[in-house]
This record gives sequence, C-alpha cells and structure tokens, in this order.
Amino acid sequence: MNIFLAGASRGVGYEIAQQLMANGNGANGNGANGNGASGNGASGNSVVALLRSAPAEADLNALGVIVVKGDALDADAMAQAMGERSLDAVISTIGGLPSDGGVRADFLGNKHLIDAAVGAKVPRFILISSIGSGNSVVALPPNVIETLGPVLKEKAQAEAYLAASGLAYTVIRPGGLLSEPATGQEILTEDVTVAGSIPRAAVATLTVRCLGSDKAVNKIFQPLIYRCSARQQWLRCLICRICSRICSAKEYARRI
Ligand SMILES: NC(=O)c1ccc[n+]([C@@H]2O[C@H](COP(=O)([O-])OP(=O)(O)OC[C@H]3O[C@@H](n4cnc5c(N)ncnc54)[C@H](OP(=O)(O)O)[C@@H]3O)[C@@H](O)[C@H]2O)c1
Repeated sequence: MNIFLAGASRGVGYEIAQQLMANGNGANGNGANGNGASGNGASGNSVVALLRSAPAEADLNALGVIVVKGDALDADAMAQAMGERSLDAVISTIGGLPSDGGVRADFLGNKHLIDAAVGAKVPRFILISSIGSGNSVVALPPNVIETLGPVLKEKAQAEAYLAASGLAYTVIRPGGLLSEPATGQEILTEDVTVAGSIPRAAVATLTVRCLGSDKAVNKIFQPLIYRCSARQQWLRCLICRICSRICSAKEYARRI
C-alpha cells in the first residue's frame, strides 16, 4: 500500500511508520494504485510522512520512509503533497497546540488533509481522534470533558468533516496514551461508553490492521485493553489466561 502519514514525528504516528515499514499486518503489497516504486519496507508498504520540522527526518529515512516537508495548516501544500502521488490511504495522528500558541491542527489541519485526499482521489482515510469526542462524550466524567473541551470540539469537527467527505473512513478514539509496550490484549470496540489508557504502540497496531479491513470502513472505534470478566479473573490461573485470549480474539473478530 502507498500511505501518506501525517503526525509521524513522534507518538502514535511514529509507531505507525515503524509498523508499516516492518510488517504488512494486512496492509502489505503495492496497493490498488500499484505505485510502490520507492520507500517500500519489508512489507511492500510505501510510506510518505508529512513533517513540519527536521528532528525526526533522519530516523524516518532510516526506516525507509519518504519525508515531505510541510504544515497541515497550509491547504495548498497538502493538496500538492498528495496530488503529485498515487496513494491508497491517508493516516492522520496530528494534534496538539503549536509551540507559538497559534492555531491548533486538530480540526483545520485535518480538514486540509481530508480536502487534499478528496482532491487526489485517495480512497481511504484513517483519523486518530480522542475519547470524549462526538457521541463518546458519555465515556468521560464532566470535569475531564470541561478541561479537554476545546480539543474535543475540534476533534469532533474533524470526525464529522471526514464522515461527510465521501472518503472510506475509520476514526479511532484513544483514551490516555501510554509510551509503553502493547499488551497484545488491545481491541477496538464501537461501544462509546468505555474509556481507558492504552499504549501508543497498540493504537498503531490497531490502526494498521484497519487499513487492511473492510469491516473497519466507515466506522468509529474506541480502542481499549480488553479485561477479563469478574468470573474469569476469579479463576486466576492458566485457564483464565487462555480464556481471556480466546474472548479477546472473539471480541476483536466481532468488531473488525
Ligand atoms: N496524549 C494523549 O493522551 C491523547 C489522548 C487521546 C487522543 N490523543 C490524540 O492522539 C493523537 C496522537 O497523539 P500522540 O501523543 O501520540 O502524538 P503527539 O505528540 O500529539 O504528536 C502530534 C503529531 O502531530 C504533528 N502535528 C501537529 N500539528 C501539525 C501540523 N500543523 N502540521 C503537521 N504536523 C502537525 C506533530 O508534529 P511536530 O513534531 O511538528 O509537532 C506530531 O507529529 C493526537 O491527535 C492526539 O491529540 C492523545
């Protein structure tokens, strides 16, 4: 697949770049557009990463990622960056307040990426949003919603804009992100009432899996670490561990 990745300088975006270049996870091959000429990883994926500053460039190049410089707040630059490529999917993990305290990218940056994807006829778009956005507002306590209010408002705007874009989309709404290894028990659910912390690496794995899944098209997911039921926990033995793995796999298969 030929993938345009925004937000790859760090966090979930960098994890996604690593995983895409290391293995296919269902997203391998040269993709529908068959343009895997350069920047391909062992998986056959070709990843173009949008960067607005230099520090991560060498690390991404070392992975085999092609770096394109630009700011998602610049609509023309995004149109040009995607327009000159044959792409199968866009993944955006962008967010956060700029160091100069200026405009957030959570809505406007993602809007420009979505517009550019539509213009360049990219068939697929995956957006990393946040728990508490849109109808998942019920998953968080009111004081947290109040604190995160401005961010969640922008995330919700971006989600709605993507859903109305005509692109085949997937939205993933993580809770608190952890910089620790994945447990292997993480799943995606459409249940909007759940919230919980999750490793960035796990969000990346689930995102990459969505790329290769028709069941993830036009869906909004909450990622979380699957917990055993109270009865399963009571067993606290090998059977429980096997059981939780089976339940987790079933849940995952049902959702994706
Ligand atoms: N942190 C949490 O607990 C949490 C919880 C729920 C959801 N989220 C969301 O999950 C996503 C990933 O979070 P993260 O903590 O792993 O990553 P992050 O540290 O928030 O990184 C954000 C990325 O977006 C890029 N970016 C921001 N504005 C941009 C712009 N105008 N143009 C181009 N790139 C831009 C940043 O590039 P630079 O290096 O140039 O700044 C960086 O690569 C974010 O959307 C975040 O809002 C986070």
